[in-house]
Amino acid sequence: MMDSISETRNLLNIGDLSRTAIEEVLELTEAFREVSARPIPKVPALRGRTVANCFFEDSTRTRLSFEMAAKRLSADVVNFTAKGSSLSKGESIRDTVRTLCAMGAQGIICRHHSPGVATRIAGWVDVPVINAGDGSHEHPTQALLDVATVVQARGPMDDLNVVIVGDIDHSRVARSNVTAFNTMGANVTLCAPPTLLPPGVSTWPAAIAHELDDVLDKADVVYMLRMQRERIEADPVLPSIREYLDRYGLTTARARRFGSDTLVMHPGPMNRGVEIASEVPDLANSLVEAQVANGVAVRMAVLYLTMAGMQ
Ligand code: NCD
Repeated sequence: MMDSISETRNLLNIGDLSRTAIEEVLELTEAFREVSARPIPKVPALRGRTVANCFFEDSTRTRLSFEMAAKRLSADVVNFTAKGSSLSKGESIRDTVRTLCAMGAQGIICRHHSPGVATRIAGWVDVPVINAGDGSHEHPTQALLDVATVVQARGPMDDLNVVIVGDIDHSRVARSNVTAFNTMGANVTLCAPPTLLPPGVSTWPAAIAHELDDVLDKADVVYMLRMQRERIEADPVLPSIREYLDRYGLTTARARRFGSDTLVMHPGPMNRGVEIASEVPDLANSLVEAQVANGVAVRMAVLYLTMAGMQ
C-alpha cells in the first residue's frame, strides 16, 4: 500500500492506495477542477511528454476523458485502438506496447477485456502505466472520480451509507469502488440478485442485500451499475429485464421516495429503462454529469502524479 501514487508511478489497483494517497488525488483534483473552469483550461505541467492511450476494449468516456486530461496538462496524446491495428495480424500486447515505447511514449494508459493486463504491461515497460479498466477486475480512476464526486457534493465520506446496485459480478467499477469507498470510511451495501453476486463476495468489506426497497431508505448514495451484457456468458442470469427493473431498477417511483439529499450515481454508459428509468439520471439529485466532469480533473491528477516528476 502506498501513500502517494508518485511512489510507484503506476496506478494499477485501487487497493494499492492508502487513504492518504486518495486524499492527495482529491486535493490535486480540486486544483485541476479550477484549471478546467478557466477560459483556457490548460497548464504546462506535462508539456513535451507523450502519453499513449491504449484501448483494447471499447470506451467512450474513459478514453476521451484521459485524452482531454492529458491535453489539459499540455501532453501529446497518441491513441491506439485495437480495431484496425496489427493485433489482427497476430502481434502480441507486449510487442504492441514496447513498440509504442520505442517510438517515445512516456506513459501508457491501458484498457483491456482481460483481468491483470495493466499489471502485465507494467512489467514489460519502463514508463508509468495507468489501468483504465481490466475485464471485470479493476477500474481505479473510476473509483477515484466517484470518491471525488461524492466528496464534492457531501464532504468527507466517513459514515455515509452507499448502496451499489446491480451487476456486481461482472463489474470492475463495483470492485474498485467498494475498496475506495471503504478506505474513505463509508459503509457500503451491495444490492443484487444472488445470480449477479460473485463467489467470495462475503469477504468484501460490504454488506449484502437482495431487496432494493429494504436498503434505499437509509442510503445517502445510490450507485447504479450497468448490466454488463458483453461479459455475461451462457446462462441467463435474469428471468426477465422487466422483473429486474421491478426489483432492482431505479424506477421513477423509487427515486421520488428518497429525499433531495439522496444522491444518484452511475458510471455510464447507462441503459436507460434497464437499470435506471429514463428520467432519473436527469433529476436534481443525480450526479451523473458531475461524475463525468470530475473524471477529467481526477485523470489530470493521476497523470500528473505518475508522469510529472519523470526524468
Ligand atoms: C464502466 C466501465 O467501462 O467499466 N464505464 C466507465 O468506464 N465509465 C462501466 C460500464 O461499462 O458499465
